[in-house]
Amino acid sequence: MAFPEGFMWGGATAANQCEGGYDQGGRGLANVDVCPHGEDRFPVMLGLKHISQVDSEHYFPALEGVDFYHRWKEDIALYGKMGFKTYRMSIAWTRIFPNGDDAEPNEEGLRFYEDVFKECRKWGIEPLVTITHFDCPMHLIQEYGGWKNRKLVELYKRLVAVLFERYKGLVRYWLTFNEINMILALPFMGAGLTFDEGEDQTASKYRAAHHELVASAWATKIAHEVDPQNRVGCMLAGGRFYPLTPEPADVLEAMRRDNENYFFTDVQARGAYPAYALKFMEREGIDIPWQEGDREILAQNTVDFISFSYYSSRCATTHKDEMGGQTSGNVFASVKNPYLKASEWGWQIDPTGLRITLNSLYERYQKPLFVVENGLGAKDELVDDGNGGKTVIDDYRIDYLRSHIKEMDDAITYDGVELWGYTTWGPIDLVSASTGEMSKRYGFVYVDRDDAGKGSLERYPKKSFGWYKKVIATNGADLD
Ligand code: BG6
Repeated sequence: MAFPEGFMWGGATAANQCEGGYDQGGRGLANVDVCPHGEDRFPVMLGLKHISQVDSEHYFPALEGVDFYHRWKEDIALYGKMGFKTYRMSIAWTRIFPNGDDAEPNEEGLRFYEDVFKECRKWGIEPLVTITHFDCPMHLIQEYGGWKNRKLVELYKRLVAVLFERYKGLVRYWLTFNEINMILALPFMGAGLTFDEGEDQTASKYRAAHHELVASAWATKIAHEVDPQNRVGCMLAGGRFYPLTPEPADVLEAMRRDNENYFFTDVQARGAYPAYALKFMEREGIDIPWQEGDREILAQNTVDFISFSYYSSRCATTHKDEMGGQTSGNVFASVKNPYLKASEWGWQIDPTGLRITLNSLYERYQKPLFVVENGLGAKDELVDDGNGGKTVIDDYRIDYLRSHIKEMDDAITYDGVELWGYTTWGPIDLVSASTGEMSKRYGFVYVDRDDAGKGSLERYPKKSFGWYKKVIATNGADLD
């Protein structure tokens, strides 16, 4: 059997997309709360249009999410019934430090997550916790300029120290920043950056990224000091770039685009800025705000494992006019691959690309890997299940997941990749990060809620619920 004993099967969510309860339990406001559904979403996520508080002109789907804040017991029971070995979730920074720079942490927030982790353990589920999944307290953005300011490194260190102490023995697997490379594509939603007129945005993004990278290394150090059992991972929005043609210029372009993303994991896994990035920054006149001790902290505190999300591969070319159209997918616009089909949202589907991505990351770092997001966003139809209840017959989702799991199997069996686990994105339907929609559903569990925030929030297991349960029970041997 390919999947090793103890392989961590499960699902992944993020606080800002499922938790809700944005103004309860002493929680403060975050960047992710003020990303509206509708036409203003992209300008806000990009940091070009500023919304700093909740208003009545917009609908903000993160404020209620799918109400995990009140339904966590019910949701964890569903994961437990599917046999989850792990559940990836994130902490809302503003539940712990409502403003980010408060003198003391918020006990109510700390207790909330403690109860959640204990409930997971009751079901035999190992929590895998993302410390920051795109969120940054609004107060830190308004007062300090978010991650552009070195001050955030200190505040993040305080946050993680509190988390590691409080959850010692309850949580062992940690991810420092979700899709850390997303700072380049979605600077406001990904890292709380806004820009002034005429500001060199590229330079600002890399300077802020430096602060995140230093903070990530500090978190790794503190995690290991507090509990040597802790395992800390980086998290990359993954997916290899293919050259659109075999022309050497296209191959080089694909390598360059890959390096834009690998820059982050190179620093986190190898402990130093790679030469290609230093040269790029020199050329662009990007002045990284190094401080004394940064190089040592990065070098001495590399991550224990590499985690990444995978939805699609990407394509690169230098022939702009032959591009054949753009594709979407994790917001990194890319050239359409003529050999691939796409989801209803235009995300191209490439299971083999997962094997290729696993191999590239393993060759590059020789560290254990963890696929912490993978799944199909699709429109679902709720139908009668024949027993007086309701369900969704989501064979398309099962097909997508099956084909990706087969590729992980091959990467382990034929290529010798060390893979710790697999958490599908959105084991329960939740708010889409890119569009703010509910109708882009990923879950094994249907949630009755629509794009305008209407619905009972009732949960209904889909056909894929039983299928994934069997996959886990057989440790990936039965995918039918
Ligand atoms: C990843 C994010 O980029 O993709 C998740 O880490 C996100 O937060 C997921 O939800 C799927 O994207 P979307 O836009 O379909 O929700």
